[in-house]
Amino acid sequence: MKIIYAKDYGDMSRKAANIISAQVILKPESVLGLATGSSPLGIYRQLILWYEKGDLDFSAARSVNLDEYWGLPADNEQSYHYFMHHHFFDHINIDPARIHIPNGMAPDAAAECARYDRLITEYGGIDLQLLGIGRNAHIGFNEPDDHFSKNTHQVTLTQSTIAANTRFFEREEDVPHQAISMGMQAITQARKILLVASGEDKAQALYASCFGPVTPQVPASILQLHQDVTIIADEAALSRCPR
Ligand code: GLP
Repeated sequence: MKIIYAKDYGDMSRKAANIISAQVILKPESVLGLATGSSPLGIYRQLILWYEKGDLDFSAARSVNLDEYWGLPADNEQSYHYFMHHHFFDHINIDPARIHIPNGMAPDAAAECARYDRLITEYGGIDLQLLGIGRNAHIGFNEPDDHFSKNTHQVTLTQSTIAANTRFFEREEDVPHQAISMGMQAITQARKILLVASGEDKAQALYASCFGPVTPQVPASILQLHQDVTIIADEAALSRCPR
């Protein structure tokens, strides 16, 4: 794991955007695994700016998002569909036919999960997977558990994740209790992984993920087994990690 210290959120975002930018320049048809949450927002803003300047072209890029709340339609402002379009896709020239996010309104969750894994396989896997990290070290919505979930799956969110994500909703009771998440196979088979984290509330999760035992109780710890992981985090998030 390569750990890069960033001065602050802006520095973290620009460094990470540089890596994604290089990926798209080197391989315009890259399959980008994308993430939601407040951590990647600054990255998307930076990539949009470079696109507007004419430095980046997403016309051949393909994207597969990590996860989606179960039961939220795409036009719900709290859905990850809405988030991705509002904060990124609507501002760049990616082909809408090449944007993929699990469908949280699918009639059959198991069939939707299988469809999503097939799609990733047909794309030849993910070139660059962008990840945030939950306070409990979840990646995507792979929550702490007694096993790693291999495939895309329907997941029941932990109380701590529901509480953490309440800040995006008007009321805690509005937060869906279930989601569809990409599993560890698609994530760990990504050729490159880029994880961003900022703030003191991620410090313990980041420390345990990078330096603790590899255990499904700390989902991001599985990244220790991957050959090409770059972590970009600010001082607060890295405050428990040895320098
Ligand atoms: C959500 C998402 C994750 C994200 C995490 C952290 O639950 N499913 O993909 O990494 O929360 O979010 P934030 O970056 O807002 O702290």
